[in-house]
Amino acid sequence: MTKLKLVDVNYTYSEGTPFRKDALRNINIEIEDNCITGLIGHTGCGKSTLVQLLNGLLFPTSGEVMFDGNNIKEKGYDLKTLRHKVGLVFQYPEYQLFEDTVYDDIAFGPKNMGLPKDEIDRRIKEAALFVGLEERYFEVSPFDLSGGQKRRVAIAGIMAMDPDVLILDEPAAGLDPIGREEILGGIYSYQRKRKNAVVIVSHSMEDMARYSDKLIVMNDGEVFMQGNCREVFSETDKLLSVGLDVPQITKFMRALKSKGIDVRTDIFTVDEAKAEILSKMGGCGNA
Ligand SMILES: Nc1ncnc2c1ncn2[C@@H]1O[C@H](COP(=O)(O)OP(=O)(O)O)[C@@H](O)[C@H]1O
Ligand SMILES: [Mg+2]
Repeated sequence: MTKLKLVDVNYTYSEGTPFRKDALRNINIEIEDNCITGLIGHTGCGKSTLVQLLNGLLFPTSGEVMFDGNNIKEKGYDLKTLRHKVGLVFQYPEYQLFEDTVYDDIAFGPKNMGLPKDEIDRRIKEAALFVGLEERYFEVSPFDLSGGQKRRVAIAGIMAMDPDVLILDEPAAGLDPIGREEILGGIYSYQRKRKNAVVIVSHSMEDMARYSDKLIVMNDGEVFMQGNCREVFSETDKLLSVGLDVPQITKFMRALKSKGIDVRTDIFTVDEAKAEILSKMGGCGNA
């Protein structure tokens, strides 16, 4: 069952002023359970606005946000619980740490939920493992950590709340390739273990091809395409038409095809490309 969805959602900033901006138009999406959804699109297309609607930090100008069958705008709706169940890690969350130690920072969310101390402790240790944060950092001040380490602390803090839906706004932004791999790999392992819904906001097709099950592609405030990776990346021309990219390996397969080699072009991982090329070679090289 899909717990979280947006129905006919529009969002306008600064309505009624000269700064009015239609950030989202006619959004209909469902966030699938037990699935990593990649939310992708150019800077300014509305991704951060959309994720803030998903946990009730912003409310639609029109349309509905539904969680567990309830409209979150209804009178008396428990938004505090919603924000525990739909955990949002902001873009550059490393600027939002404030406790004296790393341990206390990760503990902040679970403590707020009123969990017992030993359960909080268990969750902190587990979340730290997922984000690759060693326990020797627990008693250190978060302000003494590098930017990348601080980000791990912030992500661990939301993971430790064990949300039904974990949303991360550009979790790999500004990291080097190893840092990206570690953070995204950690999020991937977390989702495969938890089997909850995870939404990763990104503008890297390469990263999303590797780590997402499903993609929602946005363009200029609207949902431009959605589907699994194969469905989306098989429409390369459509993506390129609005200046979005496809993974390098997809481009490579297209280049082979344009040279007259009859290979599939709806391929977005190197392993799949290898299997396809070997099959066209009549299996030689398989030995
Ligand atoms: N607080 C705000 N006031 C007015 N316009 C905003 C505000 N925040 C974002 N916008 C505008 O809304 C659009 C969508 O922004 P955003 O959701 O941040 O996009 P993304 O996360 O995809 O980069 C952009 O044109 C942006 O300039
Ligand atoms: Mg953003």
